[in-house]
Amino acid sequence: MENRKTTKMKKYFFLYLIVFFSIISCKKKGCTDPASYNYDENAQVNDGSCEYATPYDLEIPPLFSQYLPNPIIPNNNPLTIEGIQLGRKLFYEPMLSGNNTQSCSDCHSPSSAFTDTNQFSIGIDGNFGGRNSMPIFNVAWNFNENFFWDGRASSVEDQAFGPVVNPIEMHETWPNAVNKLQNDNEYPDLFKAAFGTDIIDSVLVSKAIAQFERTLISGNSKFDKFLNNQISLTPSEISGYNIFMDENGGDCFHCHGDPTNPLWTDNEFHNNGLDALFSDQGLGDINGNSNDIGKFKTPSLRNLVFTAPYMHDGRFATLDEVITHYSIGLVNSSTIDPLMKNISQGGAQLSPQEMIDLKAFLLTLTDSTFITNPNFIEP
Ligand code: HEC
Ligand code: HEC
Repeated sequence: MENRKTTKMKKYFFLYLIVFFSIISCKKKGCTDPASYNYDENAQVNDGSCEYATPYDLEIPPLFSQYLPNPIIPNNNPLTIEGIQLGRKLFYEPMLSGNNTQSCSDCHSPSSAFTDTNQFSIGIDGNFGGRNSMPIFNVAWNFNENFFWDGRASSVEDQAFGPVVNPIEMHETWPNAVNKLQNDNEYPDLFKAAFGTDIIDSVLVSKAIAQFERTLISGNSKFDKFLNNQISLTPSEISGYNIFMDENGGDCFHCHGDPTNPLWTDNEFHNNGLDALFSDQGLGDINGNSNDIGKFKTPSLRNLVFTAPYMHDGRFATLDEVITHYSIGLVNSSTIDPLMKNISQGGAQLSPQEMIDLKAFLLTLTDSTFITNPNFIEP
């Protein structure tokens, strides 16, 4: 009796074992790490086959690590040496445009802190867009992940899809652009090294460009050095700083940041009193909310000396014009920001000396090492 029972139990045990292992082996094996370049989204069991390009650590300026959370680097697009190199080449690649004449860098040039000097940028067909190009730096710390003046792109990856097919910019189709890269004698190998495949597509192009953009860090201005106790400021610069921080003076810091925000922008959207009526409605056009009409993303105040002209439509050619706007030029409208509180007198009513000092302070946010960084120029 006893013996029969145990043999039966043994039989069942082996049956269970077989069922168990066949279930396990049904689970698809492969690389389950999204950070690897052969990530298989259907794989359930990691079989140790993950492959990686060479990881790259961002060099983060001291004030950034002190005051800001970690930069945003998506799990599915980690920074790698090969990816950044490829992205840099693509950023300067005219093959991405319809007639092979324009690259991202034509409107985002390193010598202009990655914007251009035109009021409106000119696309390949000679058309002018209605907006001023934007500088590109410190994008990995745009924690709201809103890109463009109106915030319509939600990541640098997402953003990079736009300009190639924009009819008034590079005016190309993605299949054409990808085809040109695929038939080039260098690109397939570079994609293989960066992403583990030489089959190029628009997603990989945008990932590589986004990696390069995340390395464009500007954190070495005179004011940064002052905060790091390396140099001192002139009396005029200090007075300008105080006007910037004074709620009864310029009161600029609520939107443009203070010494604890080395980005010098809140990356939020405001109406800073440019117009009574907005032909370009900014954020309001994107989300359809009438309370957001005339709101645009606050630009960083770093590197202003390189980024003229100013505002979303490049209406001001000089910093003096910008300061005059905030001092006496504010225009009322229903969505004007409450911080533009001196609207009834046209603005903060700064004296000529205060305007000079405020400008002197703004210029301390200039980071000349950013525009000459050899890692950022055309490879
Ligand atoms: C013809 C000029 C032109 C070209 C070419 C161009 N851009 Fe732009 N870029 C602009 C303009 C203008 C804006 C602002 C547009 C808006 O807000 O609608 C902009 C905005 C951006 C922004 C948003 C920055 C921010 O802080 O929100 C990024 C990033 C950017 N461009 C990257 C690129 C990349 C990458 C390429 C190449 C694939 C490229 N651009 C090609 C003119 C251009
Ligand atoms: C209510 C928020 C707010 C306040 C306060 C504010 N700004 Fe602005 N600033 C903005 C926004 C938003 C823009 C972009 C507006 C646009 O283009 O339509 C801007 C644009 C600028 C620009 C142009 C930068 C560029 O790259 O185009 C400068 C310079 C500037 N502001 C300086 C100042 C100074 C100096 C003060 C204080 C006197 C100040 N701002 C106060 C929100 C603000």
